[in-house]
Amino acid sequence: MTDIKPLNDDGIALAADILRRGELVAFPTETVYGLGANAMDDMAVARIFEAKGRPRFNPLIVHLPSVQAVRQYAVMNGAAYTLAEKFWPGALTMVMPRAKDCQLSELVSAGLDTVAIRIPAHPGARRLLEAVNLPIAAPSANTSGKLSPTEAAHVASSLGDAVSLILDGGACGVGVESTIVDVSGKKPTLLRPGGIAAEEIEEVLNQPLIRAASDDTAPKSPGMLSSHYAPHCPVRLNVETPETGEAYLGFGPTEKATANLSVKGDLREAAANLFRLLHELDGGQYHAIAVAPIPETGLGLAINDRLRRAAAPRG
Ligand code: TXA
Ligand code: MG
Repeated sequence: MTDIKPLNDDGIALAADILRRGELVAFPTETVYGLGANAMDDMAVARIFEAKGRPRFNPLIVHLPSVQAVRQYAVMNGAAYTLAEKFWPGALTMVMPRAKDCQLSELVSAGLDTVAIRIPAHPGARRLLEAVNLPIAAPSANTSGKLSPTEAAHVASSLGDAVSLILDGGACGVGVESTIVDVSGKKPTLLRPGGIAAEEIEEVLNQPLIRAASDDTAPKSPGMLSSHYAPHCPVRLNVETPETGEAYLGFGPTEKATANLSVKGDLREAAANLFRLLHELDGGQYHAIAVAPIPETGLGLAINDRLRRAAAPRG
């Protein structure tokens, strides 16, 4: 049985310990319950995808307690400061370029050079963030394809034992996810409608938002594929024996690997390493990346989904 504790000093202290150990804690925010992990720990972030059973790696939202903390991880431009001033803490998430020495897991960004960040307003969430003193990656605390949870009991019935602890802070006030605005480009773009009305944001920015096809799960139109990381060099899949000049990305024990997703053949470790190793091998030193077969089970589904996109013909 999952442990459910009230969101008080004891609960928060326990949650902070669990998060520091690299395990998952579900906690309330003013929008929905989040499934939290240390956003600097690749293995902890991989556990989020495992617990949600998501068949693909979507980038996650990182939760922080203050603008000062945000600046450690992301580059804030004028629009970002304007929106932060008006809507943080609150139900607004901003996508910004990752800062130069950004210590966040690459899996949090699904390999992109941007990161989504939110400063929640929920007092309990804020106390937790301050106590743990770590950036916390947290998607909604439900299994993939299920309704977003607005009460601790929803989390328990959806995620069960996959989460070490659920902090119960009652029902979420807003009840829908945060509004996501991408401020990393020239024109602020609405990526997901949510708890704060787009019109309110436009009024504060004094300009209309670009409306991207709103989609919480996957890029459906080819145009949106550009927002997903793809290596520069060609990728070949299910390779047992690499060719000369190719980098070999191994999985499981092998002598041939240039780099190995997991020598033990552990899918969680492979997920944790995936984007970092692809970036490393994609530095221009090889003419292609050959990837060992990855089993189509558990996190292997999301890993293979990502690899198939990387290997797909580019238009
Ligand atoms: O209200 C909320 O936002 C809740 C609470 C827990 O904070 N969190 C939440 O997270 O809804 P999640 O993972 O379910 O939604 C994250 C969304 C996804 O649609 C993802 O594609 C988008 O944010 N996203 C995250 N990082 C991004 C990035 N770098 N570029 C574009 N979109 C990004
Ligand atoms: Mg969600």
